[in-house]
Amino acid sequence: MKNLKGKVAAVTGAASGLGRSMALAFAREGMHVALGDVDDAGLKETEKAARELGAQALTQRVDVSKAEQVDAFRDQALSKLGGVHVVCNNAGVSTLGAAWEASVADWQWILGVNLWGVIHGVRAFAPHLIAQNEGHIVNTASVSGLISPPGSSTYNVTKHAVVALSETLHHDLRERSSAVGVSVLCPAYVPTRITESERNRPHPASEKSKETIAREAMLKKAVASGKISADQVAQAVVAAVKENRFYILTHPRIKGAIQARMEDILQERAPRNPMAL
Ligand SMILES: NC(=O)c1ccc[n+]([C@@H]2O[C@H](COP(=O)([O-])OP(=O)(O)OC[C@H]3O[C@@H](n4cnc5c(N)ncnc54)[C@H](O)[C@@H]3O)[C@@H](O)[C@H]2O)c1
Repeated sequence: MKNLKGKVAAVTGAASGLGRSMALAFAREGMHVALGDVDDAGLKETEKAARELGAQALTQRVDVSKAEQVDAFRDQALSKLGGVHVVCNNAGVSTLGAAWEASVADWQWILGVNLWGVIHGVRAFAPHLIAQNEGHIVNTASVSGLISPPGSSTYNVTKHAVVALSETLHHDLRERSSAVGVSVLCPAYVPTRITESERNRPHPASEKSKETIAREAMLKKAVASGKISADQVAQAVVAAVKENRFYILTHPRIKGAIQARMEDILQERAPRNPMAL
């Protein structure tokens, strides 16, 4: 989509971090924004900032793991803002722990937000974009959708699935000669509130191993000292939408680990630890 001015972007996870930055980056392009999240106070802050940039904005409390709430978010955006053109399925949470440690409730929570959230976003919005033969869907995955770092099996599973869904969606649209574009966003560490995901956990956390506690401290440090800001990632997203580019890899240094994974697969050897390369 070359011309974004006057069009509408719907963004989930818009109350914080990457979602807020994407919404405001689209507002700077002259777009209007539909903002969805479970954090009402954060949504209001994003809405205020978007209005200050001259955008029309609506906020809606939406738990992306719930099909009917994502459908209602789409309906609100269409009726109050008159259309939707760019959809950012971005809401996400992160939990850590060895593959056997996560509780059933944790698996259900993270799959619900990170994977079902994107599935519902595609299911709810894609038919509308296809019918108007204009639009772009941006799904937020992670580098953890392209490599599999240890200690985050729940997160990796959801993000690999988001990459697979996005690639397949791209093929399905190309097969039908649709003008609708797709991008999958795969950042590494970006300073946001992702390491405070437990603020949204709907059930108490199970007891953590000492390895998990240590890994949480390491991840907090790595995310906080990420060199690329959420605003820079959002700029990369806007550019990808305009250029109709599929993969958005904001941290090129990670490409060595992706290449190593591909080589290990093709050579049929055991995967190397991407964090030790
Ligand atoms: N920050 C990073 O280092 C990084 C790296 C790779 C990928 N990501 C991905 O970026 C996306 C955005 O995360 P962020 O880093 O901005 O973190 P963040 O915690 O700052 O923002 C996430 C937002 O999602 C919202 N959210 C949580 N559960 C929700 C639900 N059920 N329904 C609707 N909204 C919900 C939160 O309220 C929050 O506003 C996530 O998908 C995350 O996995 C982040």
